[in-house]
Amino acid sequence: MLLDVSNLTIQYSKNIEATVKNINFSLDRGEILTIVGESGCGKTTVIRSILGCLPNSGKIINGKILFENQDLLKYNHKDWLSLRGKHIAMIFQDSGNMLNPIQTIGKQFIEYLQIHDDLTKKEAYSFAVEMLTRMNLANPENIMKSYSFELSGGMRQRVGIAMAISFKPSLLLADEPTSALDVTTQAQIVKELIEIPRNYGTAMIVVTHNIGVAAYMSDKIMVMKQGEIIEYGKAKDIINSPQEEYTKSLLSAVPQIGGKRYV
Ligand SMILES: Nc1ncnc2c1ncn2[C@@H]1O[C@H](COP(=O)(O)OP(=O)(O)OP(=O)(O)O)[C@@H](O)[C@H]1O
Ligand SMILES: [Mg+2]
Repeated sequence: MLLDVSNLTIQYSKNIEATVKNINFSLDRGEILTIVGESGCGKTTVIRSILGCLPNSGKIINGKILFENQDLLKYNHKDWLSLRGKHIAMIFQDSGNMLNPIQTIGKQFIEYLQIHDDLTKKEAYSFAVEMLTRMNLANPENIMKSYSFELSGGMRQRVGIAMAISFKPSLLLADEPTSALDVTTQAQIVKELIEIPRNYGTAMIVVTHNIGVAAYMSDKIMVMKQGEIIEYGKAKDIINSPQEEYTKSLLSAVPQIGGKRYV
């Protein structure tokens, strides 16, 4: 087992009820889990806790997070630095927010690679170009010279994914990685994301509002409501025979074409 989360409970303030309550799930190598649920139910909070970057006010008050049999809640700052980027990486909703607007993509990509690995500038440059090419970006040399605002949202997202998968992390976390994109680009990126576990054996946790996307890409689905898991299991089972009214309502919102539900 790659990741084992048990009884995870997270609170943002002592005076209020816990935001995430008693969550249990696990992930094997190469598996894709999607987390769905309404806004504010705690999806981002769960993802952030696994990356060890809850906001200061957020505290894990109960539970365990085991990653490759290591207890992440015992990690110190130095442990996190060696884990993040190399073993657990993250893709954001809009990689534009992660990229520095006044530095070229190339400068940032090279720096990122050199922080995590012992590479010369030249080696890092070639590595970055190779990763951009793998993400189906044409003219990678031009992209290296560009600033993030010169790229489309889809291109920026591909740059973000290219950086995140550079070191073949065993776990990739993606918080609504396609929701800032138009529908066509969204579909392309989802297809590219599915290739990552196939190519690198990386497991992924993807947060999405779209249960159609979840059905299409995942092995497992976790449905959250108000900080709790209300349904969790194999994607096929949840799509074909949802047990909870809430899951049924999410599924009924997926458009039907010719009487068939395309999820
Ligand atoms: N830094 C914070 N301080 C206090 N409360 C917070 C903080 N971040 C999130 N919360 C609260 O925790 C709850 C869950 O937030 P979270 O961002 O995890 O939800 P989400 O499911 O990711 O929502 P969305 O779909 O809108 O992204 C919300 O009620 C939110 O207001
Ligand atoms: Mg969120």
